[in-house]
Amino acid sequence: MADIKKHWYKEMAVYQIWPRSFKDGNGDGIGDLKGVLSKLDYIKSLGVDAVWFSPLYKSPQKDYGYDISDYRDIAPEYGTLDEFKTVLDECHKRGLKVIMDMVVNHTSDQHEWFLESKKGHDNPCHDYYFWRKGKNGGKKPPNNWRSIFSEPAWKYDEGLGEYYLHLFATEQPDLNMDNPKVREEVKDIMRFWLEMGVDGFREDVITFISKKENLPNGIPIPIATGFEHYMGGPRLHEYLMEFKNDVLSKYDCMTVGEAPMMTPKKALKHIAEGPGQELNMMFHFQHMEADSFLTSWIRRPFNLKKLKKVYANWQEGLYGRAWNALYIENHDQPRIIDRYGSLEFREASAKMLAAMYICQSGTPFIYQGQEIGMTNINLPEIGMYDDVSTINNYKLGQKLRLSDKTIMKLAMYASRDNARTPVQWTGGKNAGFTGGEKAWFHINPNYTEINVEAAEKDENSILNFYRKLLKFRKENEIVIYGDYKEHYPDSDKLFVYERNYEGKRMLVICSFCDKPCVFKTPEGFDLGKGRLEIASYENAGNTGNNFILQPYECRVYMF
Ligand code: GLC
Ligand code: CA
Repeated sequence: MADIKKHWYKEMAVYQIWPRSFKDGNGDGIGDLKGVLSKLDYIKSLGVDAVWFSPLYKSPQKDYGYDISDYRDIAPEYGTLDEFKTVLDECHKRGLKVIMDMVVNHTSDQHEWFLESKKGHDNPCHDYYFWRKGKNGGKKPPNNWRSIFSEPAWKYDEGLGEYYLHLFATEQPDLNMDNPKVREEVKDIMRFWLEMGVDGFREDVITFISKKENLPNGIPIPIATGFEHYMGGPRLHEYLMEFKNDVLSKYDCMTVGEAPMMTPKKALKHIAEGPGQELNMMFHFQHMEADSFLTSWIRRPFNLKKLKKVYANWQEGLYGRAWNALYIENHDQPRIIDRYGSLEFREASAKMLAAMYICQSGTPFIYQGQEIGMTNINLPEIGMYDDVSTINNYKLGQKLRLSDKTIMKLAMYASRDNARTPVQWTGGKNAGFTGGEKAWFHINPNYTEINVEAAEKDENSILNFYRKLLKFRKENEIVIYGDYKEHYPDSDKLFVYERNYEGKRMLVICSFCDKPCVFKTPEGFDLGKGRLEIASYENAGNTGNNFILQPYECRVYMF
């Protein structure tokens, strides 16, 4: 058996806050730190150990905080730096760690560095970004790269007569990490927050920070042309190691890097434990592609076998060598119930999906609203959307001459706005999100039924199931440190796996079927000798080794 090193970042569970839609504390309709403060006891009550804040920094909010104009201050609509320090303190008092979002692949076009860099070639900040002359006498962009948000990745600046690179929105110019001054800035920003007492970073699209020299043309594919020249670029390892050696290793902190198109094999080069470890964990995307390809916009039918294979690769591939970050939702992904679960069996499928991923080996992340089983809002008209990538994808769809109906169907399914509707706290006015007249964004009309207040009153709610699961994980080392072995990989209805640790065994049984489904206990297990620790349906148990699982039922047995 692999020798697993224990660490607090492995034992914790993390709650992700997307501040704009979490809780409004001052009645202006926008979530804020005052709102966060009022809900810290709730967060603690879930049984999590840390909070990850999506960006709270000053920002023009073109990409809701992922376009930062000041890395050392809080957006005024969210509060002040002093208020943040209070939140940090209050989190620590409750035993909650605080993880900040570190967005250093790009800044806002309103960041002082960018405003300076535009002033001319002699400006000390000029080389903080990628400025290039156009091709064809300046009329065409320097290369054919496309931004992840479906536009050309270059924007012409009249003043300079040159283009700048932006892999995301036009207002998010990419930082030139090859410039050592930029890396010093990044390290200073990290130190600033670590000195204040934060406990770690989620590093936004961190695998994009090194671009291939001379920025050559990329393979033209519909999205992200050129990604082969910046995803896992030539100096990525070097830069990550520099951040670690010069800053991160000097603090008791953790890091999780966001890493699109990451595979377990490549991940090990970044997160394998030992002296060469650059980051503690990575957010990969492969398990979010069981119903889609590369982006949730390119759809295919949900495929359970594919999902299980991805999990098996990561669980087995990393076990004893590196650590998994586990998530099924975040601010970029539509709600999971609509994707891998069932609206008809909302409660059952939400519980099953929770057990399916939280009982694996790794650190679980839970996105706001996930714990009460929030669902997609399915906004029917493009004018109702707010997310820059949705709007750009809509325009791309029009260029590709897709019908409005088709584009809207995709948007309803795939838009990031689905995850960004205000958290539903009560069945009352504005779902209890704001005491003011109006929330900044549409509230899902199902708030009258799906809300925290109602879930608190129901012993069998999704919310209380999450609490049970997190408590169970905390109380049983096997859930944290056990290995992973899959059963019935060829089943397209059942997801079954076992975990083993120090003589203990655990069996996780999940049905992805909307009808009753026959279950046969895998060889080597006798359920009569096990303890049913987690059950999503009442009256489960005492059923022998072969029985019928109810739709989306899940059970966890301990031996
Ligand atoms: C990451 C963030 C996403 C953001 C993008 C650009 O993928 O999670 O919300 O739009 O990076 O910063
Ligand atoms: Ca507010």
